[in-house]
Amino acid sequence: MQTIKTVKALRATLRPWHQSGQSIAFVPTMGNLHAGHIKLVETARQQADKVVVSIFVNPTQFGPNEDFASYPRTEQQDQDKLVAHDADLLFLPSVEEMYPQPLQTQVSVTTLSTLHCGASRPGHFDGVAVVVCKLLNMAQPDLLLLGEKDFQQLTVIRRMIEDLNLPVSVQGVATVRETDGLAMSSRNGYLTTSERQRAPLLYQSLLAARDAILQGAAPQSAVDSESARLQAAGFAVDYIHACRSSDLLPATPDDKQLVILAAAKLGKTRLIDNVCFSR
Ligand code: PAF
Repeated sequence: MQTIKTVKALRATLRPWHQSGQSIAFVPTMGNLHAGHIKLVETARQQADKVVVSIFVNPTQFGPNEDFASYPRTEQQDQDKLVAHDADLLFLPSVEEMYPQPLQTQVSVTTLSTLHCGASRPGHFDGVAVVVCKLLNMAQPDLLLLGEKDFQQLTVIRRMIEDLNLPVSVQGVATVRETDGLAMSSRNGYLTTSERQRAPLLYQSLLAARDAILQGAAPQSAVDSESARLQAAGFAVDYIHACRSSDLLPATPDDKQLVILAAAKLGKTRLIDNVCFSR
């Protein structure tokens, strides 16, 4: 696997791959790779001739009081995992390489980015959109792979790609979970032992809300009772919303494809998860 740190070298390496018609799958990450990321790489490996992974802890998607400085950086272990899973190229740029001058250009998927996580993390999805847009322009892949765990992020990026006619297909990859149901996340490492024991309740609540809706409960009352259950277990619930999966607006009685999105803090750790279903 080649590791490349500059945009110029990335383009020079990818050029012959593009010219010889080899398909390129791209997996953007912020590193600290876990089984969820590895599933993205494995899926990419099955779909394309070349697999390109980026590791970049993107400052523009962190708020001023968020964990940019403490976000886990495990470069050597990440590189070893990518070699073991047969990635072809790792793009590992510095902040200066990605943002050589203050940005005067914004990429903002307006309505979608203000809902749910966007309401409590203002500017977060603008930071995600701009960095993913830049990475796609740098690598020009055929296929972009993103985890379904960050369902709102996936929806924002799909919409950006549609709105801007970016020539790339997007594939969402199912969330990988620990055996007790907790969605894999780099931030799970922040949990204390007692928080880690309680953390799977978030997914259990999502499943319970889904089951209640499938049995005829009104979506709002189903999510409200699960929110109360989480609060009682010590979670600070940011939101738990039943939405239609296409645009993440509140589910109406006619909507068939639904997603319940949730974010809650356990101590200092913000957890997000979701469950998608049809009715
Ligand atoms: O999901 C992530 O790790 C990040 O938001 C992404 C897509 C790599 C953009 O920085």
